Amino acid sequence: MKFQGISAQFADANADALAVPVFKGEKPSDGLLKELDKLTGGLVASLYKAEDFKGDSGSEALIRFENRGKGKASRLLLLGVGDEKDYKPHSVAAASGAATRFFRKRNIKSFALLPRGGADAVTTAQNAVQGAITSQFELDKYKTKDKNEKAVNSLVICIDGAKPADLKRGIDRGEAIGESMNFTRDLANEPPNILTPSEMARRAQAMAREVGLKCEVLDEAKMIKMGMGSLMSVSLGSEQPARLIVLRYTPARSTGKKGDLLALVGKGITFDTGGISLKPGEGMDAMKYDMSGGATVLGTMRAIALMKPSVPVLGVVAAVENMPDGKASRPSDVVTAMNGKTIEILNTDAEGRLILADAVAYAEQQGATRIVDMATLTGAVIIALGDINTGIMGNDQDFVDEIVECGREAGEGFWQLPVGPEYSKQIRSDIADIKNIGPRGKAGTIMGAVFIQEFVDKAKWAHLDIAGTAWCDGVKPHQAKGPTGVAIRSLINLVEKSQ
Ligand code: BES
Ligand code: ZN
Ligand code: ZN
Repeated sequence: MKFQGISAQFADANADALAVPVFKGEKPSDGLLKELDKLTGGLVASLYKAEDFKGDSGSEALIRFENRGKGKASRLLLLGVGDEKDYKPHSVAAASGAATRFFRKRNIKSFALLPRGGADAVTTAQNAVQGAITSQFELDKYKTKDKNEKAVNSLVICIDGAKPADLKRGIDRGEAIGESMNFTRDLANEPPNILTPSEMARRAQAMAREVGLKCEVLDEAKMIKMGMGSLMSVSLGSEQPARLIVLRYTPARSTGKKGDLLALVGKGITFDTGGISLKPGEGMDAMKYDMSGGATVLGTMRAIALMKPSVPVLGVVAAVENMPDGKASRPSDVVTAMNGKTIEILNTDAEGRLILADAVAYAEQQGATRIVDMATLTGAVIIALGDINTGIMGNDQDFVDEIVECGREAGEGFWQLPVGPEYSKQIRSDIADIKNIGPRGKAGTIMGAVFIQEFVDKAKWAHLDIAGTAWCDGVKPHQAKGPTGVAIRSLINLVEKSQ
């Protein structure tokens, strides 16, 4: 997709169509709508008169009009975006995405967007571009027919008074973020026979080469040597060897707090059968996305490498397959993690926390002072928060607050659940230091978090349970159904705020 930023007259843009977000309550008799009414020879006013369009959120109206200029648009899409006060900088991404999908369906190849909203030109262009890119992601990679061949291939972003340098910077940033989100979504959508732990590592290496990140892949021998008995226990039942993927971003010049190292750590279970605590067959296919946390780390690191913030970031992905087999862990096995803690495995389906235990301990050993881990960790978070909010828990309230705020700015919801000694007590084991599950039916999401917390020493730490938000079962105006790429934009904000 090609992007161009202009500060010239919107109606004069070289494109097949024009698109404008419209607020509820705007009148065709004044302001922008009045201009558009003039452009369309009164068609905006008639649309309003017929009460066909009022700017309600999610509504859309396409107007065809005579535009005599050569190469000039002759269609105008009005996109209802609801109340103006709710139209945030990130809303531009959803509006741009909705317009892109609208035109793509109708095989219209190019359009000009007047993004509106009060944000600066860089932010506005960035959101417009990211929204357009992520909106065209589809699940049909493996279809040989009935594939969606239609695509919008050109977007002109019109921002009145914007400097060319700002437009370019916004477009570059939007491309980096949008393509990185799609990179993550593509991984999450890959079938587990194709995306094995080793294949995930190879994709990480190829991506790292492409964007200039350092990438190290630890094999099983290395992990055993380092004492990662918890992570390795999950891999025992699988023919596929586990991999620990380590990505390092180092800025040319560092401006952050001295000694601070942010680490992003992800659960990369390429398929979760549950192991010996086997999951029911129905719905098990969904468990191919159980590597979404890891894919989120890879996508975020990709974007960071392209955007070049002035702080270092460490990315760690534990890529493992959870299978039942003669060699698999049994409920009641005891294993030792790399920090020396012993774990009684009472349910082999609570495997995400077992691999994250060693992955977060490794991140801290590598010098991390702040750790965000992300994982499709519990079914319980879906019951609590649905697919709207990501569950967040942590050991430092300011750090949690900061991430929640980064999410708000990105348009991504995080909702905090509590942790604390009363919860931690519930994973004490009779025979080992801790057990990998809490009492049945009680605070399942929190139990996952307090388990991981046992492997964090001094670092500030936050845990994101993205089981509900990493996959969306329904199509949205701006987004196909399937993997969402959730948390990437929020984490980029977090990294950039540390500069
Ligand atoms: N990957 C699952 C969590 C999950 C479940 C994600 C459903 C998305 C949809 C995780 O490994 C798991 O199986 N968790 C168990 C934990 C339980 C055994 C304590 C769960 O949530 O049931
Ligand atoms: Zn599981
Ligand atoms: Zn799992």
